[in-house]
Amino acid sequence: MANNRKKTKKRNFIYHIHPPTVPWRTLKFTLTWGLGGGALVLASMQVITGILLLFVYSSTMSKAYDSILILQHDVLFGKLIRNIHHWGANFIIIVLFLHMLRVFFTGAYHDKRKVNWWTGLGLFFCVLISNFTGYLLPLDQLSYWAITICTNMFEYIPYIGIPIQKLIRGGAEIGQVTLSNFFAIHIALVPIALAILMLFHFWRVRKAGGVIIPVSLNEDAGDESKRVPSVPHLVIRELTVALVIIAGLFVFAVFFDAPLSGKANPGMSPNPTKAPWYFAGLQELLQHFHPFFAVFVIPILLVSWLIGLPFLKSGNNYGGTWFVSAKGRRMGLISVGIAMIIIPVMIIFDEYFLNFAAGTSEISSMTANGLIPVAVVLGFLFGLYGWFQIKYEALKDEGTQSLCIFLLVSFIILTVTGILFRGPGMALCWPWNITLSEIASIH
Ligand code: HEM
Ligand code: HEM
Repeated sequence: MANNRKKTKKRNFIYHIHPPTVPWRTLKFTLTWGLGGGALVLASMQVITGILLLFVYSSTMSKAYDSILILQHDVLFGKLIRNIHHWGANFIIIVLFLHMLRVFFTGAYHDKRKVNWWTGLGLFFCVLISNFTGYLLPLDQLSYWAITICTNMFEYIPYIGIPIQKLIRGGAEIGQVTLSNFFAIHIALVPIALAILMLFHFWRVRKAGGVIIPVSLNEDAGDESKRVPSVPHLVIRELTVALVIIAGLFVFAVFFDAPLSGKANPGMSPNPTKAPWYFAGLQELLQHFHPFFAVFVIPILLVSWLIGLPFLKSGNNYGGTWFVSAKGRRMGLISVGIAMIIIPVMIIFDEYFLNFAAGTSEISSMTANGLIPVAVVLGFLFGLYGWFQIKYEALKDEGTQSLCIFLLVSFIILTVTGILFRGPGMALCWPWNITLSEIASIH
């Protein structure tokens, strides 16, 4: 009897996060790729390794860098723990980005799932802040100058830019106040926000009846009603993903060390000074657009679009079908091709012939060097959307999605260019002509 009660209690815990049964079609690995669960595992690893790091790390300007040296050389497994924290932080961005794409491309952000889309955006923002604040903590040359270059970008935002910059830095320059603030945000504020948002996120998935059930446009969904118990069918899959990710991260951390350059020297900036890799696309935009558009207008448009996405609804029920339809997949591929040709050509053309971002300090040049390229890009995007509608008689969702694929591939090309193809003075060059420290943004 007592044994039976114990058994029920144990099962109850799992049923807090999972329904007793799940539609078997949602268990197909290629629907979610285990990415949401993967993000949870990585975030948990960050908390565990972060707490361990706290035993040695010191958050004062004079001791921060030395404490990392002590951690790496004098503490048993210190280097491994730092490596896991460092690579885990980078991998979680990639996994989250892919999770976001899977939600988008399976159409799982409409109706009862839209609140979860917004919660997810909040989670992504928190993880970016975690990375950004953690980046400064080792206080080596790379981290000091990467944070300097990122916070410098606020200067291009009219009126509110400088006050925001001062707020983030806790003064005019990066110093002890910046480090203390970043440390507090990193180890307390953001982890608490992440925990609350995550609980809400999981509750919403549960409330929506689990992940989206694939219903393709052409397929009849007759077998959709078939359900299987969550234990063991769902739980065993989650455990497998968790173990693979933990093992993968450990192996990676054993073979690849987290970079650490010399102690921060505010008097000597490295050339080139690069932003962290996840902001390299933004930094690359700065090479081509007026700074006001590159660091303010374009990011604001992007964020507004991400927030507004659940409202763009076509009324078709394609949820759970990757890329809407077979036609959607074909159009997506065409978008990839167009972006892979046009974006590199534009980057090279602007670098050597147009040079739009040059001489952008005067207001008059904002029209020529700022508005013209933005108008050209917007015109091109509308044109592409119209072309898809006419040529393929695309649904609204297929057209929007193809445009997103175009923007996504463009963003990836900009990021790769910023990381691998920019050398001293941020001039274009081949990756084999720049040193590893000049590819600093992989830090
Ligand atoms: C999603 C969660 C987190 C992310 C993305 C993250 C990210 C980072 C990054 C990128 C660094 C710099 C690593 C380096 O290159 O040296 C760092 C450092 C650090 N983090 Fe985190 N972190 C997270 C959570 C935490 C938590 C919860 C704690 C503590 C409770 C923590 C404590 C630390 C400490 C002490 C350092 C300085 C040591 C070092 O730089 O190696 N982190 N974090
Ligand atoms: C630390 C961050 C995050 C964690 C731990 C997390 C975790 C999860 C998990 C476990 C699921 C269910 C299984 C799966 O879809 O893989 C899920 C679903 C979902 N996530 Fe996230 N997620 C995070 C961030 C995000 C982001 C950045 C977005 C989008 C902006 C997002 C949007 C959604 C949506 C809309 C669903 C429901 C999908 C469906 O019903 O099919 N999540 N998330």
